[in-house]
Amino acid sequence: MPAGKNIIDKVNQLKEKLADADYRYYVLDEPDISDIDYDMMMKELEKLEAEYPELKTADSPTGRVSGEPTKKFEVVNHEVPMLSLSNSYNYEELDDFDTRIQNLIPEQNYEYVCELKFDGLAVSLVYENGIFVRGATRGDGTKGDDVTKNLKTIRSIPLKVKSDTYKNFEVRGEVFIKKDDFEKINEEQEIRGEKLFANARNTAAGTLKLKDNREVASRPLNIFIYYFRTNDKPPVSHFDNMEILKKLKFPVNNFTKKVSSIDEVKKFCDEIEVKRDSLPYEIDGVVVKVDSLAQQDTIGSVAKSPRWAIAYKFKAKQQITKIKDITLQVGRIGTITPVAELEPVFLAGSTISRATLHNFDEIRKKEIRVGANVKIEKGGDVIPKVVEVIKDKDFSKLKDFEIPDKCPVCKSKLVKPEEEVNYYCVNYFCHAQVQGRLEHFVQRDAMEIEGLGTSIIEVFLKNNFIKDFTDLYELHKRREELIGLERFGEKSITNLLAAIEESKKKPFEKVLFALGIRHIGEKTAKIIVKHFGSIEKLESASAEEISSVYEVGPKIAASVKSFFEDKASLQMIEKLKKAGLNFKIDESKKVKFNGNFKDKTFVLTGSLEKYTRDKASQIIEEFGGKVSSSVSKKTDYVLAGEEAGSKLDKAKKLGVKIISETDFEKMIG
Ligand code: IVH
Repeated sequence: MPAGKNIIDKVNQLKEKLADADYRYYVLDEPDISDIDYDMMMKELEKLEAEYPELKTADSPTGRVSGEPTKKFEVVNHEVPMLSLSNSYNYEELDDFDTRIQNLIPEQNYEYVCELKFDGLAVSLVYENGIFVRGATRGDGTKGDDVTKNLKTIRSIPLKVKSDTYKNFEVRGEVFIKKDDFEKINEEQEIRGEKLFANARNTAAGTLKLKDNREVASRPLNIFIYYFRTNDKPPVSHFDNMEILKKLKFPVNNFTKKVSSIDEVKKFCDEIEVKRDSLPYEIDGVVVKVDSLAQQDTIGSVAKSPRWAIAYKFKAKQQITKIKDITLQVGRIGTITPVAELEPVFLAGSTISRATLHNFDEIRKKEIRVGANVKIEKGGDVIPKVVEVIKDKDFSKLKDFEIPDKCPVCKSKLVKPEEEVNYYCVNYFCHAQVQGRLEHFVQRDAMEIEGLGTSIIEVFLKNNFIKDFTDLYELHKRREELIGLERFGEKSITNLLAAIEESKKKPFEKVLFALGIRHIGEKTAKIIVKHFGSIEKLESASAEEISSVYEVGPKIAASVKSFFEDKASLQMIEKLKKAGLNFKIDESKKVKFNGNFKDKTFVLTGSLEKYTRDKASQIIEEFGGKVSSSVSKKTDYVLAGEEAGSKLDKAKKLGVKIISETDFEKMIG
């Protein structure tokens, strides 16, 4: 049955509301609806589109993540080549640039637009009839890869623009990952035992080339647009273009500024360099562009870069210093990480005296030795890295670093699994591990027990108030003793005990993450909890079952299994359960989340593939719906399986909504 006017209106309304919510959240940073409302609208739209496939258009927000993985990216020819910029590294070079401009457009007034130089990768987005139809990487400048599907996952990119003037155009911009998102992704990689990304830019580049856009969607890509080209109504200046783009609801960076002299450009560069470290995304300089498009045309381009623009690059965030010593850190799961103790140097806003060396393989490959001069760098993350050793004349006199065989903390023998680069201390009771597990448990992204920092944990361990995190929930019994401790008072202990009590409300996914099971980061914990729902179900699941969950591989499955095989883990869970922590999904939240079931009447007919009738009925009721045995006008949904008979016919006759098993699964999330 084709969709009636009401349905069409409803679908259009939902699309518009969702696009508006994306704009407010991702471009303006002023969200105005809750996540739950957003999800519910999205579910409703998905459902309607499943029912009326003809209403699913290219601009639908449901298409932001969809379809089969891409096998091979198609090649896209850029209609206008994507040029690069020539660089300048100091203000004399900026003056030279300005002189060249004066000579190229003699006796003309001109203005510059200053922008940030984002450290990501350039992409082109083509719109036809107001619809985003094709997105491509820069490639070699003349042709790139068609990454439309991946770009659609970036919610600040409008899938459709509403404008009477501008319908057919191209925009270009820089795709990037924010600094803190990059750190999260790397933490997640580390916990899962996967390779770390070198910096935010590489992460963004790698993500844009992923074949599965579901995976892309799980990595938060962003974009700033800095170029507009159209024949619809030829624009006159770059700055005006940016204003037009803002009106068309594209994400344009707010620092973009028009100035009228090279001195003002320098001032802008100074101001931005100071702000650089505090920006949430990486930049490596400032881009200066002649504002007038007519003047840009006159000035023209040479080889691969325009003469009307230049990049002013900030000083490299690198320094040379000496390695005084190499010490070892023991992580919460016993991982040994070598750390370079450096002669302190000032680098991009702070004094650096330590840098991670990652593992012994790195030390060997880079020939890192105590006493060597090294180049260090601050990348996308805050922790500095040793880039390379300077092989000066004294280098050959230095001794190779010897891999230690004992844990620096508990002195037990170190172990190196064959397939890994890391060495481990395998003494579960090693002080460093106990401390590490506790710090992990109480951190903000886990149980969020405020007031329980590194030094307080140390004091509690030393004074035998706790042996592990399960003891935290017994601490209230020793309130008076705690108040008596040096440095503590009644108020701080009261607050701390209240924070511990409050942590019991944390949802299951946070608890699972807090347990510190190897390879289970925040994201994996969420996925596992969503799939299994309770610790009992997870415990009884087979390794195959666990690894078949999307994004959970065999490594994670093996780790979960080995965790549950350990009696100590089971005892720990029992203790935490007794304390009142959550080990299953909060069903009351689920009802709210799936509000589209509330008070709705379902009729089941035919046979379902994955559910028995009883199971399907139970789910409907759990989500707040009702199940009835006969179809009437009051029926909201008929869930039809294979070989559905008269009930289906009746539903069709009465115009009752018919849903498939797949629709049903989508509804229950
Ligand atoms: S304009 C011809 N503006 O820098 C103009 N590029 O070296 C070239 N980039 O490929 C693009 N921020 O990836 C422009 N505000 C900005 C930019 C920017 C970063 C990148 C872009 C480009 C590269 C050129």
